[in-house]
Amino acid sequence: MNISKVTCVFFSATGLTQKVADLFLSGLPVAAEKLNLTPYTSDKAHVFGPDELVVFAAPVYGGILPAPAAERFALLKGQNTPAVCLAVYGNRDYDDALLEMKNLVQNAGFVPVAFGAPVAQHSLMPRVAAGRPDAEDAYKLQAFARQVWEKLGDLTTLCPQAVPQVPGNFPYKKFGGVPFKPQVSKACVHCGACAAHCPVGAIPKNAPDTTDKSACIACMACIKICPSHARSITPKGALWLAEKAFLLKYGKRRDLEVFI
Ligand SMILES: Cc1cc2nc3c(=O)[nH]c(=O)nc-3n(C[C@H](O)[C@H](O)[C@H](O)COP(=O)(O)O)c2cc1C
Repeated sequence: MNISKVTCVFFSATGLTQKVADLFLSGLPVAAEKLNLTPYTSDKAHVFGPDELVVFAAPVYGGILPAPAAERFALLKGQNTPAVCLAVYGNRDYDDALLEMKNLVQNAGFVPVAFGAPVAQHSLMPRVAAGRPDAEDAYKLQAFARQVWEKLGDLTTLCPQAVPQVPGNFPYKKFGGVPFKPQVSKACVHCGACAAHCPVGAIPKNAPDTTDKSACIACMACIKICPSHARSITPKGALWLAEKAFLLKYGKRRDLEVFI
């Protein structure tokens, strides 16, 4: 089949999912448009045609998709539109995230032709999978993209019954959030960068030194963007211990898994 346009739809709080998606896209022979669904106000409906390819990319939070990513992806509709799903995770596991993505995009009228579970640095515990995606990840992601493009070229029609199987269980894991939330120090200069970047609107524009902890998804976007390093995760000691335990348990390198 001939693909007239490629669009990459992504949710990426600290930019790692976006980086992984860009590496995948760099293996395709055509340039892709980007639809960034990370900003708080990015819940826009859109319908894709049957001759387009949509690459969905989201991080894994607690073994499933971050709720705002799932909600925003669900507003997009396909018309038997081929899709690729990438669930980017921090070397622990992607658990039910690929299955959730598969069901979500199929219910929205897309036909997934391939799935990938690539690894990126753990945004909450950055010593886990530090420096990923690296050169080896880039090579594998580009090879995967070429494989997808070849599959699309070989297909005359899309067969919704021939969608690849992915691991995962339904009902999906329940994500109750993490016990770590950002705190703000006196270094805050009220510039508002964190409020502008928070994907769930948990930081008031007129009081950026506060956080609505019930809305916060602990995505780390505010900590990464703060130019005065005024935001950090708390409790620090507990996070350090959790990171140490994660390193011991999940430190062994995992590599891109594909289902095509
Ligand atoms: C709240 C939270 C939960 C996470 N849960 C998982 C998980 O269940 N499994 C895993 O391997 N990585 C997990 N991660 C790591 C992210 O999936 C990974 O770092 C991802 O690349 C972050 O993407 P981003 O930079 O686009 O936000 C989690 C990160 C955060 C912030």
